[in-house]
Amino acid sequence: NSRRTRIYEGKAKILYEGPEPGTIIVHFKDDATAFNAQKKAVIEGKGVLNQRISEFIFTRLNELGIPTHFLRSLNMREQLVREVEIVPLEVVVRNVAAGSLAKRLGIDEGTQLPRSIIEFYYKNDQLGDPMVSEEHITAFNWASPQEIDDMMHMAIRINDFMSGLFLGIGIKLVDFKIEFGRLYENDMMRIVLADEISPDSCRLWDIKTQDKLDKDRFRRDMGGLVEAYQEVARRLGIIAEGEKPER
Ligand code: C5P
Repeated sequence: NSRRTRIYEGKAKILYEGPEPGTIIVHFKDDATAFNAQKKAVIEGKGVLNQRISEFIFTRLNELGIPTHFLRSLNMREQLVREVEIVPLEVVVRNVAAGSLAKRLGIDEGTQLPRSIIEFYYKNDQLGDPMVSEEHITAFNWASPQEIDDMMHMAIRINDFMSGLFLGIGIKLVDFKIEFGRLYENDMMRIVLADEISPDSCRLWDIKTQDKLDKDRFRRDMGGLVEAYQEVARRLGIIAEGEKPER
């Protein structure tokens, strides 16, 4: 694959030029990072599992009429997506207090929130992705008021769909992070869901056992990350009982 033109290498993914103009190939790496890449490891099998879980969710969202960048998977580790201009924001949706919200506001992890909460973080590694308000976003032109509105509406629809999807397989969707992009098409521009949705970017708790089935296993040195992601994939029907996904 050395003939392909590499466009960008991030912490967990590599982007290559796609076969047609306006397309990109996303390669999911096995690299895991946390705490703004201060903590790093290679976890064999993680990239394949994230690709397959993200493919499953993006396909369902496309079917529901929620526009995404996803076109199709090319193999276990790679997807063909539409080229978009990434909005420099991480959009976090929370249903249950955990992680930075629990810490910042002094709320016990696991406390059900009175309603779903949407937060915005400015994507900037050097600054450690600071939380920002709509005021900052519009003042610095990171997104327009209309785009903020579109992202919030899509975030709520994605949360509704995913909460139900996971509830049906005995998993609580505690929170998740999504990213959006601007898709330019026929002199038009619209906001679409981009990046990935996987156990790397969600908090997923087993409803019966409260087991963590997400990247907190890596952040908190709990071990068993691949087994947890496999369990999510198995319950979603992506991998068969006992199947070891190709690595
Ligand atoms: O750390 P925090 O509680 O703010 O994370 C909220 C959610 O966003 C978690 O599901 C976490 O996995 C996700 N997240 C992410 N990438 C980041 C920060 C948070 O996927 N850079």
